[in-house]
Amino acid sequence: PRDLRELAQQQGIRIGTAVDIAALRGEADYRKVLNREFTQVTAENAMKWESVEPARGGFTWADADALVENAKRDKQSVRGHTLVWHNQLPAWLTTGVADGTIGDDELRTILRDHITTQVRRYKGKIRAWDVVNEVVEEDGTMRQSLWLTHLGPGYIADAFRWAHRADPHAKLFINDYNLEWNTPKIETTLSLVKDLQARGVPIDGIGFQGHLGIQYDYPGDWANVMRRFADLGLEVAITELDARMELPVTEEKLAKQADYYRRALTDCLSVEACRELTVWGFTDRHSWVPGWFAGQGAACLLDENLAPKPAYRALLAVK
Ligand code: XIL
Repeated sequence: PRDLRELAQQQGIRIGTAVDIAALRGEADYRKVLNREFTQVTAENAMKWESVEPARGGFTWADADALVENAKRDKQSVRGHTLVWHNQLPAWLTTGVADGTIGDDELRTILRDHITTQVRRYKGKIRAWDVVNEVVEEDGTMRQSLWLTHLGPGYIADAFRWAHRADPHAKLFINDYNLEWNTPKIETTLSLVKDLQARGVPIDGIGFQGHLGIQYDYPGDWANVMRRFADLGLEVAITELDARMELPVTEEKLAKQADYYRRALTDCLSVEACRELTVWGFTDRHSWVPGWFAGQGAACLLDENLAPKPAYRALLAVK
């Protein structure tokens, strides 16, 4: 294949990326590569609650709309990210809950309205939604988020039902990190899915974020974990792949990184139900890694100048 788009077509999968809206608007070279290489997009931040409703009842859709419109122009499908999360919530919501001016019944209504409004707005334009993000802790207990604390465990089933009602054709996913290898998290998430299914909750897929670091071993059991979810009838996706490294960059680290990307694609292709691989940014020019992991970076397929790194070539070489 000549590029990732051709690779995606040949393999019969979607190859997506998270998109930085400021770069999409302001950088012609970024836009060109985005549209040339990818068959799907996710908004890196533009569809999160703090972005779309910074003031209560004051919706700001311009960035999310821009992403969806660009995707339409370039025949890319869209992954919606994300409806229920404990991070990047607007301050009016978190402070209102903390100081008690938003009571639990009202909070439930607020969540229902948020999901309904956002999913309806993009009805028919979003292939899949990350309905709930990161709801399980590392030790396998349910995350003690404001949602669990104030609404009880039923908020997860409610979220899927509300999303399904707002767009019956969108594929509804549960998404998490470290699910590639963390046994307690894997077991709890599998039980959660089975429980939702037993109660008739519309859940279609499992998203593995896939934030890898080459200083750690590659999660060698990943394909088996994917298969366990696939066996429950779920669609499987890698939703936020990157492979960070301790700086400075060396040839050796780039080679190791290439191997991690190659193995992630190979693992996905080895599982019939895995038909999407999305990277969390495609260029080191715009990556969340340096801002979140001190001393680390260079996690993407292309460098700051949009030149392909060994990881990019490794993906194209996968048979
Ligand atoms: C990150 C974005 O990349 C950053 O720009 C933002 O400051 C914080 O969030 N898991 C997720 C993503 O589900 O939404 C996160 O994105 C990365 C971890």
